[in-house]
Amino acid sequence: MSDILVVKLGGTTIADQRQVLDDVARVSRRRPVVLVHGGGKRITEWLDRLGVETRFEGGLRVTDQASLEVAAAVLRGVVNSELVSGLRDLGVDAVGLSGVDGGMLVAERVEGMGLVARVVDLRRDLLDSLLVGGQVPVVAPLARDEHGIVCNVNADDATAGIAVGLGARQTVFMTDVDGIRGEDGERIASITTAEAERLIEAGVIAGGMIPKVRAALAAVSTDAAEAIIADGSADEALTRAIADPSFGTHVRRAAGVAGVA
Ligand SMILES: Nc1ncnc2c1ncn2[C@@H]1O[C@H](COP(=O)(O)OP(=O)(O)O)[C@@H](O)[C@H]1O
Ligand SMILES: [Mg+2]
Repeated sequence: MSDILVVKLGGTTIADQRQVLDDVARVSRRRPVVLVHGGGKRITEWLDRLGVETRFEGGLRVTDQASLEVAAAVLRGVVNSELVSGLRDLGVDAVGLSGVDGGMLVAERVEGMGLVARVVDLRRDLLDSLLVGGQVPVVAPLARDEHGIVCNVNADDATAGIAVGLGARQTVFMTDVDGIRGEDGERIASITTAEAERLIEAGVIAGGMIPKVRAALAAVSTDAAEAIIADGSADEALTRAIADPSFGTHVRRAAGVAGVA
């Protein structure tokens, strides 16, 4: 297991980047970091601004060609460039790319959602060459499907695919809540895969937290791996997420007992 850290920026973290980028910059000086981002509210803002009509099914936006073009332009052009530029301001050798570049994310179309695909494999060569060179890849969640058509992928799903493909030791999902909340509404400090599945079944984990928790579960592909869901707007959120077991929700494969293998 490598010391690679995969970080996903979502929600308000993308709108208010300064603090979290400082933190990413600090951590990336000590270990290899791959940054993955979503679009936050920016895609919706641009769809409204451009007057692109979209259709919803079961509460989810169906991505047609017009909305895919807007999503791709905003993710790769606006959000990705901003993050790369912000990191470069901090002296980080950041490189922007999407899952299309280098054929990095291998994806398959999801039935019924339009131009949306899910990640099935990672071709890691491009990421490896960047990481070996001390660069920080910043990845927009786009990928070619099995027919070679560019599709949107859920950013949490892209993060899990990259984490598993790289054998990352830690994966941090920066979001707008302090972690997974349980039945009582309180943050759960540590959760195993079985308990997380139970909370999804029970409807306690809902909305955007479902793909995030599923991605966190996928990212902990070995007993040594850990995924953390944490509030990206907190002070030194990334530093604390990777080092402090009481910050955010830590997702592990099995209930670990200290000192017992
Ligand atoms: N059990 C839960 N614990 C915490 N958040 C939850 C839970 N169930 C649903 N959510 C919702 O999930 C949201 C985070 O997902 P999402 O909005 O997709 O964020 P991101 O932009 O980081 O992907 C939270 O803001 C919260 O409203
Ligand atoms: Mg989300």
